[in-house]
Amino acid sequence: MSTILQPVTQVSELAMNEPAHKGSGNAVIKFGVVGYGYWGPNVVRNLDQLEGSKVVAVCDQSPTARKRIHKTYPHIGVLSETADLMSSTEIDAIAIVTPVWSHYELTKAALQNGKHVFVEKPFTSDSAQAEELIELAAQKNLKIMVDHTFLFTGAVKKIGQLLDEGTLGKIYYYESMRVNLGLFQHDVNVIWDLAPHDLSIIDHLIKETPEAVSATGQTHLNGHEDVAFITVYFPNKIIAHINVNWLSPVKVRTTLIGGEKKMLVWNDLEADEKIKVYDKGVNITSREGLYSLLVNYRSGDMWAPQVEQVEALKQELTYFVDCISNDHTPSNDGAAGLRVVKLLEAANESVRKRGALVQL
Ligand SMILES: NC(=O)c1ccc[n+]([C@@H]2O[C@H](COP(=O)([O-])OP(=O)(O)OC[C@H]3O[C@@H](n4cnc5c(N)ncnc54)[C@H](O)[C@@H]3O)[C@@H](O)[C@H]2O)c1
Repeated sequence: MSTILQPVTQVSELAMNEPAHKGSGNAVIKFGVVGYGYWGPNVVRNLDQLEGSKVVAVCDQSPTARKRIHKTYPHIGVLSETADLMSSTEIDAIAIVTPVWSHYELTKAALQNGKHVFVEKPFTSDSAQAEELIELAAQKNLKIMVDHTFLFTGAVKKIGQLLDEGTLGKIYYYESMRVNLGLFQHDVNVIWDLAPHDLSIIDHLIKETPEAVSATGQTHLNGHEDVAFITVYFPNKIIAHINVNWLSPVKVRTTLIGGEKKMLVWNDLEADEKIKVYDKGVNITSREGLYSLLVNYRSGDMWAPQVEQVEALKQELTYFVDCISNDHTPSNDGAAGLRVVKLLEAANESVRKRGALVQL
């Protein structure tokens, strides 16, 4: 065992002497985390606090990040080499919270070392990588969960419930605006940075397989598209439109979903009343001959359903721990990650062709 792994061993020995405050009889899943930049601290905090998990070590190649880890979590091992994390026999699962280009290599190494993987969105840089990782995980009987955090928010759960119960009726469209100033990513464009959120949401909410994508975008500052408009076509005339932008003066997180019976607005920046359901719509009431349609606009009540106030990432990681402990396949597994990567690839291809339709 290399000397750098020493703190890991000490941490786990300490933990064995601690009172069993975690897991209450069930095995605690022991995690290693790679990446402690912007998002990594949220993953570490949740895994450290959950009943069913503990963080054995965190690895980051940046000395500054390693200092921050040690200062906040003196009981957690700190590593600079991912190889030491991957090969540790103390660890059951690895969370990969690094930039997109590194997801494939790190996930592959973790799987090869017999670890379950929680990997950030988007799953990989291309679909061939995702397919290979899915196959490797299946061969080794290991779980992959792709961090599609929004699926675990109270808002998306409520929208899913409204759709499942038939409150909105047949879906006509999904329209989302996800714009703000920055944070510019160095390795991906705004589509790969922000659109995975909406693409994973539509993959989850719309029970149809998308048929084609058309997208436009433009690069202004660092060679990557910083503004983009993506349209996804589904069967049964369902259409989704996603606007992502790093050059917006204001932050907007607003989604409209139009249904045959009701329509809703989800403003994720609202503290309360994130979702408003409108009893508005258009009925074509009668046809008196071919040229005189009677159009009736319905304008009824608006109501704001109760939305569960939870930290989505906490719910998601609890679910991942449960999937590992009880041998369940997560709904946001590698296959879900691959479906999103395929949409991202199609969007990039369409942007290169100035909006040409790309069949899926
Ligand atoms: N689910 C969400 O809502 C959400 C939010 C933000 C970011 N993300 C995703 O999280 C991932 C990371 O984003 P970020 O904004 O935290 O990036 P970041 O650049 O702020 O942090 C990445 C960290 O990983 C470290 N790192 C990179 N490669 C490494 C390697 N091979 N070994 C060890 N350490 C390494 C870097 O030193 C850095 O500290 C991205 O995939 C991003 O899309 C998800």
